[in-house]
Amino acid sequence: MSKFWSPLVNDLVPYVPGEQPKVANLIKLNTNESPFGPSPKVIAAVQAELNDTLRLYPDPEGESLRKTIAAYHGITPGQVFLGNGSDEVLAHIFYGLFQHGEPVLFPDVTYSFYPVYCGLYGIESRQIPLTDSFEIDPAEYTGPNGGVIFPNPNAPTGRYLELEHIETILHANPDRVVVVDEAYIDFGGTSAITLVDRYPNLLVTQTLSKSRALAGLRVGFAVGHPDLIEALNRVKNSFNSYPLDRLALAGAKAAYEDEAWFQQCCQTVIAERERVTQALEQQGFEVLPSRANFVLARHPDKSGQHLATGLREKGIIVRHFNKPRISEYLRITIGTTSQNDALIDGLAAL
Ligand SMILES: Cc1ncc(COP(=O)(O)O)c(C=O)c1O
Repeated sequence: MSKFWSPLVNDLVPYVPGEQPKVANLIKLNTNESPFGPSPKVIAAVQAELNDTLRLYPDPEGESLRKTIAAYHGITPGQVFLGNGSDEVLAHIFYGLFQHGEPVLFPDVTYSFYPVYCGLYGIESRQIPLTDSFEIDPAEYTGPNGGVIFPNPNAPTGRYLELEHIETILHANPDRVVVVDEAYIDFGGTSAITLVDRYPNLLVTQTLSKSRALAGLRVGFAVGHPDLIEALNRVKNSFNSYPLDRLALAGAKAAYEDEAWFQQCCQTVIAERERVTQALEQQGFEVLPSRANFVLARHPDKSGQHLATGLREKGIIVRHFNKPRISEYLRITIGTTSQNDALIDGLAAL
Protein backbone atom coordinates (compact mmCIF):
# COMPACT_ATOMS: atom_id res chain seq x y z
CA MET A 1 0.00 0.00 0.00
CA SER A 2 1.37 3.40 -0.96
CA LYS A 3 -0.15 6.84 -1.45
CA PHE A 4 1.04 6.62 -5.06
CA TRP A 5 -1.13 3.58 -5.87
CA SER A 6 -4.34 4.02 -7.80
CA PRO A 7 -7.47 2.61 -6.12
CA LEU A 8 -7.50 -0.06 -8.83
CA VAL A 9 -4.00 -1.26 -7.95
CA ASN A 10 -4.89 -1.23 -4.28
CA ASP A 11 -7.76 -3.65 -4.93
CA LEU A 12 -5.94 -6.00 -7.31
CA VAL A 13 -5.57 -9.67 -6.35
CA PRO A 14 -2.74 -10.73 -8.70
CA TYR A 15 -2.10 -14.22 -10.05
CA VAL A 16 0.51 -16.21 -8.12
CA PRO A 17 2.68 -18.23 -10.53
CA GLY A 18 4.11 -21.59 -9.46
CA GLU A 19 7.53 -21.39 -7.85
CA GLN A 20 10.59 -21.07 -10.09
CA PRO A 21 13.15 -22.31 -7.55
CA LYS A 22 16.45 -20.54 -7.09
CA VAL A 23 18.21 -23.67 -5.80
CA ALA A 24 19.55 -26.30 -8.18
CA ASN A 25 18.79 -30.02 -8.36
CA LEU A 26 15.12 -29.89 -7.43
CA ILE A 27 12.77 -32.15 -9.38
CA LYS A 28 10.40 -29.56 -10.73
CA LEU A 29 6.91 -30.95 -11.31
CA ASN A 30 4.95 -27.83 -10.37
CA THR A 31 4.31 -25.62 -13.43
CA ASN A 32 3.47 -28.02 -16.27
CA GLU A 33 6.58 -27.24 -18.29
CA SER A 34 7.95 -29.81 -20.70
CA PRO A 35 10.58 -32.11 -19.13
CA PHE A 36 12.35 -32.18 -22.51
CA GLY A 37 14.20 -29.34 -24.18
CA PRO A 38 12.83 -27.75 -27.33
CA SER A 39 13.70 -29.20 -30.72
CA PRO A 40 17.38 -28.66 -31.72
CA LYS A 41 15.96 -26.87 -34.76
CA VAL A 42 14.48 -24.25 -32.43
CA ILE A 43 17.84 -23.67 -30.74
CA ALA A 44 19.52 -23.32 -34.16
CA ALA A 45 16.85 -20.89 -35.39
CA VAL A 46 17.16 -18.69 -32.29
CA GLN A 47 20.96 -18.70 -32.56
CA ALA A 48 20.76 -17.75 -36.24
CA GLU A 49 18.69 -14.74 -35.22
CA LEU A 50 21.40 -13.45 -32.86
CA ASN A 51 22.89 -10.95 -35.23
CA ASP A 52 22.93 -7.33 -36.26
CA THR A 53 19.23 -7.33 -37.13
CA LEU A 54 18.45 -7.17 -33.40
CA ARG A 55 18.77 -3.38 -33.78
CA LEU A 56 15.54 -3.49 -35.81
CA TYR A 57 12.05 -3.93 -34.40
CA PRO A 58 10.46 -7.31 -35.11
CA ASP A 59 7.52 -7.73 -37.51
CA PRO A 60 4.59 -6.34 -35.46
CA GLU A 61 2.19 -8.73 -37.19
CA GLY A 62 4.45 -11.80 -36.95
CA GLU A 63 3.33 -12.63 -40.46
CA SER A 64 5.72 -15.47 -41.15
CA LEU A 65 4.82 -17.27 -37.91
CA ARG A 66 1.11 -16.70 -38.46
CA LYS A 67 1.44 -18.27 -41.90
CA THR A 68 3.23 -21.27 -40.42
CA ILE A 69 0.58 -21.76 -37.70
CA ALA A 70 -2.23 -21.29 -40.23
CA ALA A 71 -0.74 -23.89 -42.60
CA TYR A 72 -0.27 -26.32 -39.71
CA HIS A 73 -3.93 -26.05 -38.68
CA GLY A 74 -5.45 -25.72 -42.16
CA ILE A 75 -6.76 -22.17 -41.62
CA THR A 76 -5.81 -18.71 -42.94
CA PRO A 77 -3.27 -16.29 -41.40
CA GLY A 78 -6.14 -13.81 -40.92
CA GLN A 79 -7.63 -16.23 -38.39
CA VAL A 80 -4.48 -16.17 -36.19
CA PHE A 81 -3.51 -13.68 -33.48
CA LEU A 82 -0.12 -13.90 -31.72
CA GLY A 83 0.74 -12.89 -28.18
CA ASN A 84 3.51 -12.94 -25.60
CA GLY A 85 2.42 -16.26 -24.16
CA SER A 86 -1.23 -17.24 -24.20
CA ASP A 87 -1.64 -15.31 -20.94
CA GLU A 88 -1.26 -12.08 -22.88
CA VAL A 89 -3.68 -13.32 -25.54
CA LEU A 90 -6.18 -14.15 -22.78
CA ALA A 91 -5.74 -10.71 -21.23
CA HIS A 92 -6.63 -9.07 -24.55
CA ILE A 93 -9.63 -11.38 -24.93
CA PHE A 94 -11.00 -10.44 -21.51
CA TYR A 95 -10.53 -6.78 -22.33
CA GLY A 96 -11.70 -6.74 -25.92
CA LEU A 97 -14.14 -9.58 -26.52
CA PHE A 98 -16.09 -10.11 -23.30
CA GLN A 99 -19.07 -7.83 -22.60
CA HIS A 100 -18.12 -6.16 -19.34
CA GLY A 101 -21.65 -5.41 -18.10
CA GLU A 102 -22.62 -9.06 -17.76
CA PRO A 103 -20.90 -11.93 -15.94
CA VAL A 104 -18.30 -13.96 -17.78
CA LEU A 105 -18.84 -17.67 -17.13
CA PHE A 106 -16.06 -20.10 -16.22
CA PRO A 107 -15.78 -23.25 -14.08
CA ASP A 108 -15.39 -23.00 -10.29
CA VAL A 109 -12.22 -25.09 -10.51
CA THR A 110 -10.13 -23.78 -13.39
CA TYR A 111 -7.14 -21.68 -14.45
CA SER A 112 -6.75 -19.14 -11.67
CA PHE A 113 -5.77 -16.31 -14.03
CA TYR A 114 -9.39 -15.90 -15.23
CA PRO A 115 -10.68 -14.23 -12.04
CA VAL A 116 -7.52 -12.11 -11.99
CA TYR A 117 -8.28 -10.65 -15.44
CA CYS A 118 -11.84 -9.99 -14.29
CA GLY A 119 -10.45 -8.06 -11.32
CA LEU A 120 -8.01 -6.12 -13.49
CA TYR A 121 -10.67 -5.00 -15.97
CA GLY A 122 -13.61 -4.74 -13.57
CA ILE A 123 -15.48 -7.58 -15.29
CA GLU A 124 -18.17 -9.48 -13.43
CA SER A 125 -17.88 -13.26 -13.38
CA ARG A 126 -19.98 -16.27 -12.44
CA GLN A 127 -18.27 -19.51 -11.54
CA ILE A 128 -20.12 -22.59 -12.76
CA PRO A 129 -19.55 -25.62 -10.51
CA LEU A 130 -17.92 -28.64 -12.10
CA THR A 131 -19.82 -31.89 -11.52
CA ASP A 132 -18.88 -34.13 -8.58
CA SER A 133 -16.47 -35.91 -10.91
CA PHE A 134 -14.90 -32.54 -11.84
CA GLU A 135 -16.40 -32.43 -15.33
CA ILE A 136 -17.75 -29.39 -17.18
CA ASP A 137 -21.53 -29.69 -17.58
CA PRO A 138 -22.32 -27.93 -20.90
CA ALA A 139 -25.98 -27.46 -19.94
CA GLU A 140 -24.88 -25.01 -17.21
CA TYR A 141 -23.36 -22.55 -19.67
CA THR A 142 -26.59 -20.83 -20.66
CA GLY A 143 -28.46 -17.69 -19.68
CA PRO A 144 -27.35 -14.07 -19.90
CA ASN A 145 -23.59 -13.71 -19.79
CA GLY A 146 -20.73 -11.57 -21.06
CA GLY A 147 -18.87 -14.53 -22.60
CA VAL A 148 -17.67 -18.02 -21.70
CA ILE A 149 -14.17 -19.37 -21.13
CA PHE A 150 -12.79 -22.73 -20.03
CA PRO A 151 -9.60 -24.70 -20.65
CA ASN A 152 -9.85 -27.98 -22.54
CA PRO A 153 -8.44 -30.12 -21.03
CA ASN A 154 -9.36 -28.18 -17.91
CA ALA A 155 -6.61 -27.11 -15.52
CA PRO A 156 -5.87 -28.16 -12.84
CA THR A 157 -8.19 -31.16 -13.21
CA GLY A 158 -6.88 -32.47 -16.56
CA ARG A 159 -10.42 -33.50 -17.51
CA TYR A 160 -11.33 -33.33 -21.19
CA LEU A 161 -14.58 -32.17 -22.82
CA GLU A 162 -15.56 -33.78 -26.15
CA LEU A 163 -16.09 -31.40 -29.10
CA GLU A 164 -19.81 -32.22 -29.31
CA HIS A 165 -20.25 -30.73 -25.82
CA ILE A 166 -18.30 -27.64 -26.83
CA GLU A 167 -20.73 -27.29 -29.73
CA THR A 168 -23.62 -27.38 -27.24
CA ILE A 169 -22.07 -24.39 -25.45
CA LEU A 170 -21.47 -22.58 -28.76
CA HIS A 171 -25.11 -23.11 -29.81
CA ALA A 172 -26.37 -21.83 -26.46
CA ASN A 173 -24.37 -18.59 -26.78
CA PRO A 174 -24.64 -17.38 -30.40
CA ASP A 175 -24.23 -13.71 -29.39
CA ARG A 176 -21.31 -14.20 -27.04
CA VAL A 177 -17.70 -15.21 -27.55
CA VAL A 178 -16.87 -18.70 -26.28
CA VAL A 179 -13.15 -19.19 -25.60
CA VAL A 180 -11.60 -22.64 -25.45
CA ASP A 181 -8.17 -22.38 -23.81
CA GLU A 182 -6.23 -25.30 -25.28
CA ALA A 183 -2.96 -24.93 -23.38
CA TYR A 184 -2.85 -28.74 -22.93
CA ILE A 185 -4.71 -30.01 -26.02
CA ASP A 186 -1.68 -31.73 -27.57
CA PHE A 187 -1.55 -34.36 -24.81
CA GLY A 188 -4.50 -36.36 -26.08
CA GLY A 189 -7.41 -34.14 -27.12
CA THR A 190 -8.91 -32.98 -30.42
CA SER A 191 -8.56 -29.25 -31.04
CA ALA A 192 -11.68 -27.10 -31.42
CA ILE A 193 -9.74 -25.25 -34.17
CA THR A 194 -11.54 -27.72 -36.45
CA LEU A 195 -14.78 -25.86 -35.54
CA VAL A 196 -13.76 -22.24 -36.10
CA ASP A 197 -14.99 -22.04 -39.71
CA ARG A 198 -18.49 -23.04 -38.53
CA TYR A 199 -18.78 -20.88 -35.39
CA PRO A 200 -18.07 -17.13 -35.66
CA ASN A 201 -18.37 -16.92 -31.85
CA LEU A 202 -15.58 -19.45 -31.18
CA LEU A 203 -12.06 -18.42 -30.21
CA VAL A 204 -9.42 -21.07 -29.46
CA THR A 205 -6.17 -20.26 -27.67
CA GLN A 206 -3.02 -22.35 -27.65
CA THR A 207 0.49 -21.99 -26.28
CA LEU A 208 3.98 -23.17 -27.22
CA SER A 209 4.85 -23.31 -23.51
CA LYS A 210 3.82 -26.89 -22.84
CA SER A 211 3.87 -29.40 -25.72
CA ARG A 212 6.51 -27.44 -27.65
CA ALA A 213 8.73 -26.89 -24.61
CA LEU A 214 9.02 -23.12 -25.05
CA ALA A 215 7.67 -21.66 -21.80
CA GLY A 216 10.79 -19.48 -21.65
CA LEU A 217 10.23 -17.97 -25.10
CA ARG A 218 6.67 -16.73 -24.37
CA VAL A 219 4.57 -17.47 -27.44
CA GLY A 220 0.84 -18.09 -27.56
CA PHE A 221 -1.91 -17.51 -30.09
CA ALA A 222 -5.65 -17.36 -30.69
CA VAL A 223 -7.56 -18.77 -33.67
CA GLY A 224 -11.01 -17.58 -34.70
CA HIS A 225 -13.12 -15.58 -37.12
CA PRO A 226 -11.21 -12.60 -38.63
CA ASP A 227 -13.62 -10.20 -36.86
CA LEU A 228 -12.53 -11.58 -33.49
CA ILE A 229 -8.88 -11.42 -34.55
CA GLU A 230 -9.32 -7.80 -35.59
CA ALA A 231 -10.66 -6.95 -32.12
CA LEU A 232 -7.56 -8.49 -30.56
CA ASN A 233 -5.30 -6.56 -32.94
CA ARG A 234 -7.04 -3.33 -31.99
CA VAL A 235 -6.34 -4.03 -28.31
CA LYS A 236 -2.76 -5.15 -28.99
CA ASN A 237 -1.98 -2.07 -31.06
CA SER A 238 -3.32 0.11 -28.25
CA PHE A 239 -0.99 -1.56 -25.75
CA ASN A 240 2.23 -2.98 -27.28
CA SER A 241 2.71 -3.36 -31.03
CA TYR A 242 5.64 -5.78 -30.69
CA PRO A 243 4.61 -8.51 -28.24
CA LEU A 244 6.93 -11.10 -29.84
CA ASP A 245 10.62 -10.33 -30.27
CA ARG A 246 12.78 -11.58 -33.13
CA LEU A 247 14.08 -14.59 -31.21
CA ALA A 248 10.58 -15.69 -30.22
CA LEU A 249 9.24 -15.36 -33.76
CA ALA A 250 12.12 -17.40 -35.20
CA GLY A 251 12.11 -20.07 -32.48
CA ALA A 252 8.34 -20.55 -32.58
CA LYS A 253 8.35 -20.95 -36.34
CA ALA A 254 11.07 -23.59 -36.13
CA ALA A 255 9.07 -25.47 -33.47
CA TYR A 256 6.37 -26.11 -36.10
CA GLU A 257 8.96 -27.36 -38.54
CA ASP A 258 10.02 -30.32 -36.40
CA GLU A 259 6.89 -32.46 -36.24
CA ALA A 260 8.85 -35.61 -35.35
CA TRP A 261 10.32 -34.01 -32.22
CA PHE A 262 6.91 -32.64 -31.20
CA GLN A 263 5.18 -36.01 -31.62
CA GLN A 264 7.93 -37.86 -29.78
CA CYS A 265 7.72 -35.49 -26.78
CA CYS A 266 3.90 -35.64 -26.60
CA GLN A 267 3.75 -39.43 -26.92
CA THR A 268 6.39 -39.87 -24.21
CA VAL A 269 4.48 -37.58 -21.83
CA ILE A 270 1.22 -39.42 -22.54
CA ALA A 271 2.81 -42.83 -21.89
CA GLU A 272 4.45 -41.58 -18.68
CA ARG A 273 1.16 -40.03 -17.55
CA GLU A 274 -0.52 -43.41 -17.78
CA ARG A 275 2.36 -45.08 -15.92
CA VAL A 276 2.32 -42.46 -13.12
CA THR A 277 -1.47 -42.76 -12.85
CA GLN A 278 -1.30 -46.53 -12.43
CA ALA A 279 1.54 -46.34 -9.92
CA LEU A 280 -0.30 -43.76 -7.80
CA GLU A 281 -3.52 -45.74 -7.95
CA GLN A 282 -1.60 -48.76 -6.66
CA GLN A 283 -0.59 -46.61 -3.68
CA GLY A 284 -4.25 -45.86 -2.97
CA PHE A 285 -4.42 -42.45 -4.64
CA GLU A 286 -7.50 -41.27 -6.46
CA VAL A 287 -6.23 -39.85 -9.77
CA LEU A 288 -8.57 -37.88 -12.03
CA PRO A 289 -8.49 -39.10 -15.66
CA SER A 290 -6.18 -36.61 -17.38
CA ARG A 291 -5.60 -35.66 -21.01
CA ALA A 292 -2.99 -33.07 -20.01
CA ASN A 293 0.71 -33.18 -19.06
CA PHE A 294 -0.21 -33.32 -15.38
CA VAL A 295 -2.47 -35.29 -13.05
CA LEU A 296 -4.58 -34.16 -10.11
CA ALA A 297 -4.44 -36.75 -7.33
CA ARG A 298 -5.38 -37.17 -3.67
CA HIS A 299 -4.80 -39.79 -1.05
CA PRO A 300 -7.66 -40.78 1.27
CA ASP A 301 -5.44 -40.77 4.38
CA LYS A 302 -2.87 -38.02 3.75
CA SER A 303 -3.61 -34.33 3.34
CA GLY A 304 -2.53 -32.49 0.21
CA GLN A 305 -0.50 -30.05 2.30
CA HIS A 306 1.29 -32.87 4.14
CA LEU A 307 2.24 -34.61 0.90
CA ALA A 308 3.36 -31.41 -0.85
CA THR A 309 5.55 -30.45 2.12
CA GLY A 310 6.93 -33.98 2.43
CA LEU A 311 7.83 -34.11 -1.26
CA ARG A 312 9.49 -30.71 -1.04
CA GLU A 313 11.72 -32.01 1.76
CA LYS A 314 12.76 -34.76 -0.65
CA GLY A 315 13.62 -32.17 -3.33
CA ILE A 316 10.47 -32.68 -5.42
CA ILE A 317 8.11 -29.77 -6.00
CA VAL A 318 4.50 -30.24 -7.08
CA ARG A 319 1.60 -27.75 -6.97
CA HIS A 320 -0.79 -27.66 -4.04
CA PHE A 321 -3.73 -25.25 -4.27
CA ASN A 322 -5.22 -24.17 -0.97
CA LYS A 323 -8.61 -23.69 -2.60
CA PRO A 324 -12.15 -25.02 -2.21
CA ARG A 325 -12.72 -28.54 -3.58
CA ILE A 326 -9.06 -29.20 -4.44
CA SER A 327 -7.14 -28.48 -1.23
CA GLU A 328 -6.63 -32.21 -0.62
CA TYR A 329 -5.19 -32.75 -4.09
CA LEU A 330 -1.73 -32.42 -5.61
CA ARG A 331 -1.25 -31.29 -9.18
CA ILE A 332 1.72 -33.19 -10.48
CA THR A 333 3.40 -32.33 -13.78
CA ILE A 334 4.54 -35.37 -15.75
CA GLY A 335 8.35 -35.35 -15.88
CA THR A 336 11.01 -37.58 -17.38
CA THR A 337 10.96 -41.30 -16.52
CA SER A 338 13.55 -40.85 -13.77
CA GLN A 339 11.78 -37.79 -12.34
CA ASN A 340 8.51 -39.71 -12.29
CA ASP A 341 10.22 -42.65 -10.60
CA ALA A 342 11.52 -40.29 -7.90
CA LEU A 343 8.00 -38.91 -7.43
CA ILE A 344 6.45 -42.38 -7.15
CA ASP A 345 9.13 -43.49 -4.65
CA GLY A 346 8.82 -40.23 -2.71
CA LEU A 347 5.07 -40.60 -2.33
CA ALA A 348 5.43 -44.25 -1.36
CA ALA A 349 7.83 -43.25 1.40
CA LEU A 350 5.40 -40.62 2.68
C1 LIG B 1 -5.01 -23.28 -18.73
C2 LIG B 1 -3.84 -22.40 -19.05
N1 LIG B 1 -3.98 -21.43 -19.95
C3 LIG B 1 -2.97 -20.61 -20.26
C4 LIG B 1 -1.74 -20.73 -19.66
C5 LIG B 1 -0.67 -19.74 -19.99
O1 LIG B 1 0.34 -20.25 -20.75
P1 LIG B 1 1.43 -19.31 -21.44
O2 LIG B 1 1.17 -17.89 -21.01
O3 LIG B 1 2.74 -19.83 -20.97
O4 LIG B 1 1.21 -19.47 -22.90
C6 LIG B 1 -1.53 -21.74 -18.71
C7 LIG B 1 -0.22 -21.87 -18.05
O5 LIG B 1 0.01 -22.61 -17.16
C8 LIG B 1 -2.61 -22.59 -18.39
O6 LIG B 1 -2.48 -23.55 -17.47
